[in-house]
Amino acid sequence: MKNSYYCKRLNETIDFDALKIFFCCATRTGPSIDAKENINSVNKIVKARELLIKRLDRGDIPEECVGCYDLEEQSKPKYQGLNFYKKVPKPNTIIVKHFKQCNSSCIYCAEQYISNRKIVLKPKKSDYYDLLPIIKNLYKKNLIDKDNLTVLFQGGDISVLEEFEDLVNIFVENGVKKIEIATNGIIYLPIIEKICRKTFVDMDISIDCGCRESYKKIKTVDKFDDLVNNLRKYTKLPIQVRLKYILVRNINDNIEEVSKYIELMKDIGIKISELTIDQCDPEFLENNQFKIPPHYYELYSLWEKKCKEYDIYPSLWSYLKEILDKGEFFK
Ligand SMILES: C[S@@+](CC[C@H](N)C(=O)[O-])C[C@H]1O[C@@H](n2cnc3c(N)ncnc32)[C@H](O)[C@@H]1O
Ligand code: SF4
Repeated sequence: MKNSYYCKRLNETIDFDALKIFFCCATRTGPSIDAKENINSVNKIVKARELLIKRLDRGDIPEECVGCYDLEEQSKPKYQGLNFYKKVPKPNTIIVKHFKQCNSSCIYCAEQYISNRKIVLKPKKSDYYDLLPIIKNLYKKNLIDKDNLTVLFQGGDISVLEEFEDLVNIFVENGVKKIEIATNGIIYLPIIEKICRKTFVDMDISIDCGCRESYKKIKTVDKFDDLVNNLRKYTKLPIQVRLKYILVRNINDNIEEVSKYIELMKDIGIKISELTIDQCDPEFLENNQFKIPPHYYELYSLWEKKCKEYDIYPSLWSYLKEILDKGEFFK
């Protein structure tokens, strides 16, 4: 008899990307269905997800899941498997990234493969599809785990997505538990003030440097001061603000810039900091191994030490921790 498998992410997520709808995390490698063909039927979307979960349960691993670090045998699960739930659990995580327009054009951006680096300044509709009718339908047909729902806004930048506020409102009206927003923070979002006492808001903002000159090099727009002003406003609200720094080879992967970033966080009053690596850097990949440049370890120790000194929590993405511990990583 085949071993039975399950995946915590698959049990939880619907990820609305531009060309595909994924059923796991925000990578572009997991099992998916074509967005265009399925977007008009929430039943088709939910059914496709159920079939995947059931396939794993009977040991039939989809090609996209083979070798994935999130795949687990039901005999030794970290989390409860399908046999615990008795039926397929409703998704409790929705990822919104069905649009790619942005008011910045960061040199490292993983989404630029599709947006052609065009800078969009005014809010507009997604070039792919509107999500609001789909979300309304998921609620109407009771197809999501409404009481435990987390929504992650990614993209593109939500500050130039026309339906952003309508989406936030529908989630909040339906009692969403947590809203996580990744944004470049260039444009202040007044809706955060409106919702921050109704749900838990977690903002994830990439600054990637500590001064205006480096900001221009990395983000390609001259908006460092606007972002810093907005950060000062956000830190006064009852929300979680994580400030992020993506190490980009030969641009900001040096002690001077990382130090400026840490001093800036102290000055603004940031409480959570993230230091991560450019996942799109082709030089990291050698024979499918993800190799970490040795000087990154120095930058990590400096960051950790100074964050602790300034009472800033140094947050590490779990997979990154695994990569750093091993020095390299196999998918
Ligand atoms: C594509 S962005 C969209 C949200 C928003 N525009 C922003 O920049 O935060 C989603 C997240 O992916 C991260 N990201 C984009 N490209 C990346 C890369 N090459 N390596 C690591 N993280 C990346 C960004 O920092 C951001 O937190
Ligand atoms: S702000 Fe976000 S979406 Fe825009 S280019 Fe930068 S990483 Fe990409």
